[in-house]
Amino acid sequence: MSEKIPVAVLGATGSVGQRFISLLDNHPWFEVVALAASDRSAGKPYTEACRWVLTDPMPAWAAEMVIVQPTPGQVEAKIVFSALPSGQAKDIEPAFARAGAAVCSNASAYRDEPDVPILFPEVTPELIHVIKDQRQKRGWSGSITTNSNCTSTGLSVALKPLKDAFGLKKVFVVSMQAVSGAGYPGVSSLDITDNVIPYIGGEEEKVEWEPRKILGELVNGEIKPADFLISAQTNRVHVTDGHMVCVNLELERKASPEEAIEVLRNYQAPQAARDLPSAPNPVIIVRDEPDRPQPRLDRSTGRGMATVVGRVRPDIILDLRFVVLSHNTIRGAAGGSLFNAELQVKENLL
Ligand SMILES: NC(=O)c1ccc[n+]([C@@H]2O[C@H](COP(=O)([O-])OP(=O)(O)OC[C@H]3O[C@@H](n4cnc5c(N)ncnc54)[C@H](OP(=O)(O)O)[C@@H]3O)[C@@H](O)[C@H]2O)c1
Repeated sequence: MSEKIPVAVLGATGSVGQRFISLLDNHPWFEVVALAASDRSAGKPYTEACRWVLTDPMPAWAAEMVIVQPTPGQVEAKIVFSALPSGQAKDIEPAFARAGAAVCSNASAYRDEPDVPILFPEVTPELIHVIKDQRQKRGWSGSITTNSNCTSTGLSVALKPLKDAFGLKKVFVVSMQAVSGAGYPGVSSLDITDNVIPYIGGEEEKVEWEPRKILGELVNGEIKPADFLISAQTNRVHVTDGHMVCVNLELERKASPEEAIEVLRNYQAPQAARDLPSAPNPVIIVRDEPDRPQPRLDRSTGRGMATVVGRVRPDIILDLRFVVLSHNTIRGAAGGSLFNAELQVKENLL
């Protein structure tokens, strides 16, 4: 690429916003031209407005940028990465799409619209083409593309090869979700220290339908969700990053753990996604040790973009069970959005 594409980050000071800044540092295709956040931060240099919590240092170019308000008049960029709370995203994201920007969002505000993809280039890149219908229907010259919620991420990637090979009927999941998934400052330390909180508002509902849309198909300009069932219980645990999910499955055609492991290990991303800068390779890592994956040891596998599976074994009630881990603020949020934007560039959809 001879010239880098100008991009902006909305919600740049938060948990996901900081990941965007870190992952966009030296990105081969994108150059950050604007950072936006709330009125509390607008007008301040990024280093003053943001309490940086990542272990990688804040890039020098970001430290000096002055935060602006998230409006198309103040932010001129071809791609707009949104890490806004859902309530704010509802009005702000369409304003950018109308003004011609490709909005790559982490918020849930538009995920359930049939013409808005929850995009995973390594499993269903073809769903990106729904944005052509989205533009036509809504009269936008830009678009909105979303990520899933961060618990559905590793789950959906691991389910894809199993669905293709054996068919899925029922999926039961129990999550153990990191504290960074609640944003910054998130859950109070007095609530989470030495504790597990068995409730995350709205999360179970999202995990029960988002993977079905991610693994769905494009029919007459809309995404039709896949027709298996998911039942979810979600928990917040005392871990900084990395969401772990225990999965029990009923398949359409019986499979042994060895067959499932082979299918997971051999899984390859579709051609459209293979060479993108954020593509994980391999997409799925299957660990053989009886006590892996673990968030602290395995969340950064494949620069935080890989899906790590372990403990694949028979289930005495259903067919199979396993554990899956994914980095919630990288593959589950900012890294996933970059991957989605890269696919749009490659498919000439900007
Ligand atoms: N954390 C995760 O693992 C994760 C994963 C997937 C998806 N998501 C989704 O990603 C989004 C961001 O999550 P987060 O965890 O990064 O949240 P967060 O840490 O609370 O950050 C929120 C960001 O939005 C800005 N903001 C708040 N109110 C605003 C307003 N009225 N106008 C403009 N900007 C405003 C904040 O700016 P100020 O600093 O100025 O207040 C901050 O930059 C949410 O929709 C979340 O559901 C999060």
